[in-house]
Amino acid sequence: MEEYIPKFLDMMYDKEIAKHLPIEEVRDAFHTNQIESKKQASLAFEAISDNAKKVLYVGSWLGFLTRVLIEKYPNITFEEVDMDMRCKEISGRFNYTFKNYQGHQSINIDEFGREHEFDTIINLSCEHMTTGWYDRVKPGTQLIIQSNNLVIEDHINNCESLDDFKSKYPLSEIHYENTLELNVFNRFTLAGVK
Ligand SMILES: C[S@@+](CC[C@H](N)C(=O)[O-])C[C@H]1O[C@@H](n2cnc3c(N)ncnc32)[C@H](O)[C@@H]1O
Repeated sequence: MEEYIPKFLDMMYDKEIAKHLPIEEVRDAFHTNQIESKKQASLAFEAISDNAKKVLYVGSWLGFLTRVLIEKYPNITFEEVDMDMRCKEISGRFNYTFKNYQGHQSINIDEFGREHEFDTIINLSCEHMTTGWYDRVKPGTQLIIQSNNLVIEDHINNCESLDDFKSKYPLSEIHYENTLELNVFNRFTLAGVK
């Protein structure tokens, strides 16, 4: 995972990319908490990867984990959705050379409307949005999801515990679960089938 950090930073020699990325955001993206959380997401994805062919990544942010996954799973396609307009250019620049990178849509997931086209959905930003997207996911879809108990302004939908997370996003099968104890908060990870 860490070997992708200099690859991302190299991209910032491109001034068009760098102008979208304040140093505070880069610092947060590569904080130990973030890297450890992405390792959990990667392990969770591994647990369901045998049945994944067409993946949607909701709230894909800078496209960092996308890159890790598209390289590790060349036979699985990945498409991203993030409502932050900057993310398309940043992730696109980082990932466009991989043929299984199927692009990025800059839209709120509540207006996306194509959740049913994917066999697997990643959402590591559950705390940033309501459960509306989850309600639209068809049963049988594989999910890799994360939330946390960090109460800050952007987090409109925290979970208090792994059990709270499981009850908000009920899965018919759970293939991976974890509570990661970080410095000032806990991150919850689940992988399974809705
Ligand atoms: C701070 S980032 C990533 C946080 C996450 N815990 C992680 O580490 O991957 C949250 C991302 O979710 C996106 N986002 C939040 N609400 C969204 C929504 N309703 N639809 C699409 N993207 C959303 C934001 O634009 C942002 O890029």
